[in-house]
Amino acid sequence: MVIYTQKETLIQALSFAKKKDKIGFVPTMGALHEGHISLIKKALEENDLVVVSIFVNPTQFDNSADLKKYPRTADDDISLLKKLKGEVIVYLPEVSDLYEDSVSVKNYNFGGLANEMEGKHRSGHFDGVGTIVNKLFRIVKPNVAYFGEKDFQQLQIVKKLVSIENLPIKIVGCPIFRELNGLAMSSRNKRLTAKQFEEATIIYKTLKEVKEKFSSTSIADLNALVAERFLQNPIMNLEYFEIANEKTLKTAKRKNKASKYRAFIAAFAGEIRLIDNMPLN
Ligand code: PAF
Repeated sequence: MVIYTQKETLIQALSFAKKKDKIGFVPTMGALHEGHISLIKKALEENDLVVVSIFVNPTQFDNSADLKKYPRTADDDISLLKKLKGEVIVYLPEVSDLYEDSVSVKNYNFGGLANEMEGKHRSGHFDGVGTIVNKLFRIVKPNVAYFGEKDFQQLQIVKKLVSIENLPIKIVGCPIFRELNGLAMSSRNKRLTAKQFEEATIIYKTLKEVKEKFSSTSIADLNALVAERFLQNPIMNLEYFEIANEKTLKTAKRKNKASKYRAFIAAFAGEIRLIDNMPLN
């Protein structure tokens, strides 16, 4: 495993590999968990070499306290990556390597995808994601890039990004990895207390209940049910619950047999924000 901290040397190393190798890419913000490892293993199975970037991107945080407290565990991440079988290249840059003189974003038009859910609640978030993913794609030039479905809206936006930027990269979405209690794996879980970790399973349990009741219950009643479940929980605060069309991500008011729907939740355990989602039909 080789670690690069500067894009120029990474680009040079990859320019040799590119001639013969299929390159997979897994962009991360570090604090790696089994969910990330599953993406990297899939990428290793499907490619000759895999680039993993570890970079906490400042421009996708709308809250400076969240950025400051985001877990940074580079040494542990590297030890985990060293255990993998296969050719892994790590890109671990400083902010200045990616943003040079100006920590600023490109304003994208994601055709409405960014106006829903996370976009509504985290101002500028998806311009930050689009900006950094575009920069990383142009450095790594992968054949295939892998993203987890926990950030389902991000996955749809990255698919849109490659078409806007006209990049010849296949985007692969991978299923959510869960803790034994059902909580979706997230780097932010590292910040939960034992009690919060236990109570946060309300997110998964509620999504499962919504899925079970989806065919027999109206969307208005499901919205009310979820609000009630969270009201009864003393630890977890619901930020939003949405049943949305999987393709457009627009909030669904009523069901249409021809459409696919997903339920999405964002909730806080204290100041720690967690998200999750589940396909419904
Ligand atoms: O999902 C993430 O970890 C980040 O949003 C990503 C894609 C690495 C961009 O910073």
